[in-house]
Amino acid sequence: MTDQAPQKRLYIKTYGCQMNVYDSERMADVLRPLGYGVTDQPEGADLVVLNTCHIREKATEKVYSELGQIRRMKERKAEAGGQMTVAVAGCVAQAEGEEIMARQPAVDLVVGPQSYHRLPELIARAHRASGQRLAADFSADEKFDGLPAERHVAGVTAFLTVQEGCDKFCTFCVVPYTRGAEYSRPAQDILDEARRLADKGVREVTLLGQNVNAYAGGQGGGLAELVRRLADIGGLDRIRYTTSHPRDMDDDLIAAHGEIPQLMPYLHLPVQAGSDKVLKAMNRAHTAESYLRLVEKIRAARPDIAMSGDFIVGFPGESDKDFEATLELVRAVGFASAFSFKYSRRPGTPAAAMPLQVAEEAKEERLARLLDLLDEQQRAFNAACVGRTLPVLFEKPGRHAGQVVGRSPYLQAVHAEAPDGLIGQIVPVRIESAAKMSLAGVLAGHAAMEPA
Ligand code: 5AD
Ligand code: SF4
Repeated sequence: MTDQAPQKRLYIKTYGCQMNVYDSERMADVLRPLGYGVTDQPEGADLVVLNTCHIREKATEKVYSELGQIRRMKERKAEAGGQMTVAVAGCVAQAEGEEIMARQPAVDLVVGPQSYHRLPELIARAHRASGQRLAADFSADEKFDGLPAERHVAGVTAFLTVQEGCDKFCTFCVVPYTRGAEYSRPAQDILDEARRLADKGVREVTLLGQNVNAYAGGQGGGLAELVRRLADIGGLDRIRYTTSHPRDMDDDLIAAHGEIPQLMPYLHLPVQAGSDKVLKAMNRAHTAESYLRLVEKIRAARPDIAMSGDFIVGFPGESDKDFEATLELVRAVGFASAFSFKYSRRPGTPAAAMPLQVAEEAKEERLARLLDLLDEQQRAFNAACVGRTLPVLFEKPGRHAGQVVGRSPYLQAVHAEAPDGLIGQIVPVRIESAAKMSLAGVLAGHAAMEPA
């Protein structure tokens, strides 16, 4: 898999003890999938790592003097149109941290001994900071990389991109490398676009972003503030957003779910796995417990919210017991819908270089078990809607004559016998039956409609 990446030259200079020698080998291992091959010449290298020792002051001074030479090599490379990235690792990095970058500007990043697994992330961040594009290093895969295609507005629902990119660096994921840093569109642009959509008859917008709840394009306010302002636009009766990271789910956004009637009670909040060991290796920055607490808080604000998630089975090092923890988390949450994937090794991502890759058969088996459980939960969620009267935004004619199809607040497809004239309207429908993917019902009087 590593053959796909272009060959780049990595020079590592090791100072000090045996521990550092071992660590340098580990760094080379982590960087190999990114296309770095070790060279014994710093001149012209693409990446120079000084793995330092702090044992005596003299050792530290040696590092600074070496950095002076590296700086000249870096300048020569830049003059020739190339780029050299300089990293300081080891104990000097640990002890002096960012001071090193202040004292020697040729240094692009410092990385302490506990963080070598984060080297791909740190290098990507350093490259971004110097304006270098990273996309060429990775074979992007639409399956995980893309946002849902932005739809041409023909109907009553529309997607609206508000945020792009990702700074989370989950260790399995290419997005932070291929899509770059998080960027939020200015709120004013979004509001203008939303008004134009509403004028064309759009009644529901779904705000899109790789990390949409990290949105920060307003004056201080995050996504909750944007949703509040969108809710003031006449005609925009429904607002949704996708996809979110648990760590950006702030109190304001949670409160918004209880306060803004236009914000639909559906939340796609990927958790990926239920084992804390796996979550840590994924660099998710949340635990199973913190995710469950978050869901509790969200349900306190909006008790009927439909929870949706993403799951990965067979992440490197995932044991049977770890996988059981995923099932346990799923049971504890109760998902209305979900997307599940077998872990797929993406060249250049840290997880691709991790040991203990899980065998394909184990992935298959775990995926099947997870899907069974999630299907069961989805059916139960849908079945619990039978007998209720839900507001349905009718979107298009159904497959059979005389039938129209729309969506419930929980994003379920709802079929009903109704005239085409109701397309574009939100109409109460009494739900009479439920399947895995959809509901069916009959038009009910407006008085019967539950608030949603
Ligand atoms: N292997 C499997 N699933 C992945 N995803 C992202 N990268 C990978 C990968 N390498 C899944 C995650 C994410 C969704 C968009 O795609 O679950 O949330
Ligand atoms: Fe990828 Fe999502 Fe993780 Fe960002 S938060 S790295 S897009 S999985």
